[in-house]
Amino acid sequence: MDSGLLIRQARVEDAGRLRELGVAGWETTYAGFLRPENRRAYLNGAFWSVERLSAISEARNCTTLVAEVEGRVMGFLTLEPHVSGDIELTRFYVDPKMRGRGVGSELWHAALAQLTAGGTRAILVNVFGDNRDGRRFYERLGVALIEETTSVVGDQTVYDVWYRLTVDP
Ligand SMILES: CC(C)(COP(=O)(O)OP(=O)(O)OC[C@H]1O[C@@H](n2cnc3c(N)ncnc32)[C@H](O)[C@@H]1OP(=O)(O)O)[C@@H](O)C(=O)NCCC(=O)NCCS
Repeated sequence: MDSGLLIRQARVEDAGRLRELGVAGWETTYAGFLRPENRRAYLNGAFWSVERLSAISEARNCTTLVAEVEGRVMGFLTLEPHVSGDIELTRFYVDPKMRGRGVGSELWHAALAQLTAGGTRAILVNVFGDNRDGRRFYERLGVALIEETTSVVGDQTVYDVWYRLTVDP
C-alpha cells in the first residue's frame, strides 16, 4: 500500500461510516450464501447498530482501528474480549473499491502489534465457511483453522469456521 494510508484508533464519530462499511461487506461478500432477508435482519440488529459501534470505539477493553486513505475511512476492524480469555476479531471490513490493495493487511499487522504490546495470548477469528476470499486472507497470514461448525443467521443455518493465531510475545 502506498502513502496516503493512515491507521488510527477509531473515534465515536466514525461509527456511521463503520456501519456503512459493514453493510457494504455483507451486501457484497456474503450475498452468495446468505439470503437478502437474513442479511437485512442481521444488519438491522444490535451488532451493527451505530450505538454498539460507538460504544466499542470508546470501550477500554476493546480496540477499533480504522484505515484512512487520503482522509477517508476505507476499512476498519474491531477486537473484543472472548470468553476463552483470547481476543476475538469481531468485525473486519474494507471498502469493496479498495480491496486487494493492502489495506486489510496493514490493519491486521497494526492490530497484531497492539495485541503483542498488550500481552494478548491469541486472536480468534470467526468466518463464514463459504467466505472463500476472507478465509484465504487469514490462511495466507498463517492463522490456523481450529473448528468447523454451523451458526444461524435469521432462518438460515450456515457453515461457520473458527481460526486462531498465537500472538508472539
Ligand atoms: C478480508 C478483507 C478485510 C481483506 O482486506 P483487503 O484490503 O482486501 O486485503 P489485502 O489487500 O491486504 O490482502 C489481499 C488478500 O485478501 C484476500 N481477499 C479477500 N477478499 C478480497 C477481494 N475482494 N479482493 C482481493 N483480495 C481479497 C485475498 O487472500 C488477497 O490475497 P491474494 O492477493 O493473495 O489473493 C477485505 O477483502 C474485505 O473487507 N472482505 C469482505 C469482508 C470480509 O470477508 N471480512 C472478513 C470476515 S471475518
